[in-house]
Amino acid sequence: VAPERTVLSLTPTAAPPSFPGFDELYKERQRLRGIDDSVYAQVEPYAGMPKEVLLLYSSQARYRVPREVLFWLTVCCTLALVAVTVAIIALSPPCLGWWQISPVYQVYPRSFKDSNGDGVGDLRGIKEKLDHFHSLNIKSIWISPFYRSPMKDFGYDVEDFRDVDPLFGTMEDFEELLAEMHKNGLKLIMDFIPNHSSDRHRWFNLSRTRDPLYEDYYVWADCNATKKPNNWVSIFGNSSWTYDEVRGQCYLHQFLKEQPDLNMRNPAVRKEIIDIIHFWLSKGVDGFRMDAVKHMLEATHLRDEPQVDPNKPPEEVTTEWDLFHDYTTSQVGLHDILREFRAEMEPYSREPGKYRFMVTESYDYEEVEKTMMYYGTPLVKESDFPFNFYLLDLPQNASGLWAKHLVDLWMSNMPRGKWPNWVVGNHDRSRIASSAGKMYVGVINMLLLTLPGTPTTYYGEEIGMENINITADQRSPMQWNSDMNAGFNNLTNITWLPVHPDYKSVNVEVQKDSEGSTMFQYNFLNSLRQAELPFLRGWFCYVQADANIFSYLRELDGHKEAYLMVLNFGKQSATTDLSSVRELPDQLKVLMSTNSTNNGKVFQKSGIQTAAGEGLVIRYSTYTRFHPSHSTECYVSEKACYLDTVGILYKC
Ligand code: GLC
Ligand code: CA
Repeated sequence: VAPERTVLSLTPTAAPPSFPGFDELYKERQRLRGIDDSVYAQVEPYAGMPKEVLLLYSSQARYRVPREVLFWLTVCCTLALVAVTVAIIALSPPCLGWWQISPVYQVYPRSFKDSNGDGVGDLRGIKEKLDHFHSLNIKSIWISPFYRSPMKDFGYDVEDFRDVDPLFGTMEDFEELLAEMHKNGLKLIMDFIPNHSSDRHRWFNLSRTRDPLYEDYYVWADCNATKKPNNWVSIFGNSSWTYDEVRGQCYLHQFLKEQPDLNMRNPAVRKEIIDIIHFWLSKGVDGFRMDAVKHMLEATHLRDEPQVDPNKPPEEVTTEWDLFHDYTTSQVGLHDILREFRAEMEPYSREPGKYRFMVTESYDYEEVEKTMMYYGTPLVKESDFPFNFYLLDLPQNASGLWAKHLVDLWMSNMPRGKWPNWVVGNHDRSRIASSAGKMYVGVINMLLLTLPGTPTTYYGEEIGMENINITADQRSPMQWNSDMNAGFNNLTNITWLPVHPDYKSVNVEVQKDSEGSTMFQYNFLNSLRQAELPFLRGWFCYVQADANIFSYLRELDGHKEAYLMVLNFGKQSATTDLSSVRELPDQLKVLMSTNSTNNGKVFQKSGIQTAAGEGLVIRYSTYTRFHPSHSTECYVSEKACYLDTVGILYKC
């Protein structure tokens, strides 16, 4: 069949697409290439044309040029995209970890929720109550020990580090709890006790009978029933040595005599501990709270520790406070051991989305630099943070100045770039409502949740529970509702400790939706803290401190909204004049007061009123930052800036 069209058409083709100056540019280029365009212009496509004709046709300037332009445009866009991606990655501050975003909530398992009616809380009970964490916007849960134990120290005396005590349930219960927690986006932090075991632990029996493999698993020294190796005393009082008739020697216990200290200088013991770390990490736990770490090593020379009062008769030296613990705490080598433990955790952290966390427990009192050692070094990782216990001292001397002093103890001693944390209660210390007084519960929680770093909340503090007066105990059953046993045990009428009589008014159910309640405020502040970048990422600056008031602000460069906190820890109401703080607007509106009737109130900055025990969160808008002209009053863990227009955070 003859083609319908001739190969060469004389019909002039349409002009090539152009832009200003295109023609000149194009013709010049073709001239340089020695190409005569007029030839191509005579070609017309037709069905079944050979390759040569098609090539000839598509080589016309009007097709070739857009093609080249498109090609180079694609190349440039790809390169630009790569460059932007690299720049964004390089400029973005690292994402915060789960242990930084959520508060850590301490569950004392005996007292949280009893599922089987024996009067003692258990693992199934915790599983029943996971909703509580959801409603509090809390993701990190530390559970005090539930290992198999004779319970001489309520589980801190471990008989088997790989088993669950029947009082708390079974290993299956634990696995179900962990799975359910993970399903709900919750992280489980185990209590880990490397310093000692129970005297009922298999190792101790083998050690006292001098089994060659276990002989040096504990700290043994020659002595007799009356003459102890030295003057060392236990944290719980009296000599830290107990004579063991089976072995005919004394063993060391820095806590109860039923809690013999493990010999951490023995590599076989460290290996055992590491194996246990692997055991729980393989089960999927998300981190460890390392118990009593400063006691892990003792001096081998066993010399007497110096007395605080040298004139005290030695037989009256019986408490922790009578001696300087130069030979029983914070010994050289301690951090190497913890860093070795940490290194063992790291491979598990590399699983996607499975960062494993470590916090250490060490009360170093006025020797804050000792605590800071647990942060590790820029090159060697240790704990993510050591617990900061200083705020536990707040009630002793409540005032704005004292609050600032305690906060600053941490902030001014913390190594650069590290992440702070704050503890206001735990199972070893009085509850806030009992030590500071009920009227300060709100303001202390407000402090906890608006400072930089991770807050730690002991169960019940979110509803303002009090110690049970008869035993001055802070471990009484959690108050869930106004039912029998406050909803802690709804099967029988037994509870291992009495329920606090105030449970009808102080409980989760009553407080949950009642504006102005401790729990409602806790929730509000915790959500604010997690939603607003200045709290998680911003600067923390002192503004004012006096007998009543501790005031500070949180701000982020480039972020319009900033927050001013005015907290009254004193005994009197106060009018605070911040007119000299020129970075603050003249009028300040209260976003939240611990006295909810003051929410929304507007103050002149020259006269901010607070009652004793009242705390205010004030939100204000400005791009003027406070920190540049007050650098000595301000801290930030990692500098970041915000681009308000596009809503991104970048390193600056
Ligand atoms: C920690 C625990 C405490 C326990 C001690 C010994 O300080 O918090 O309750 O008695 O270690 O394990
Ligand atoms: Ca020890």
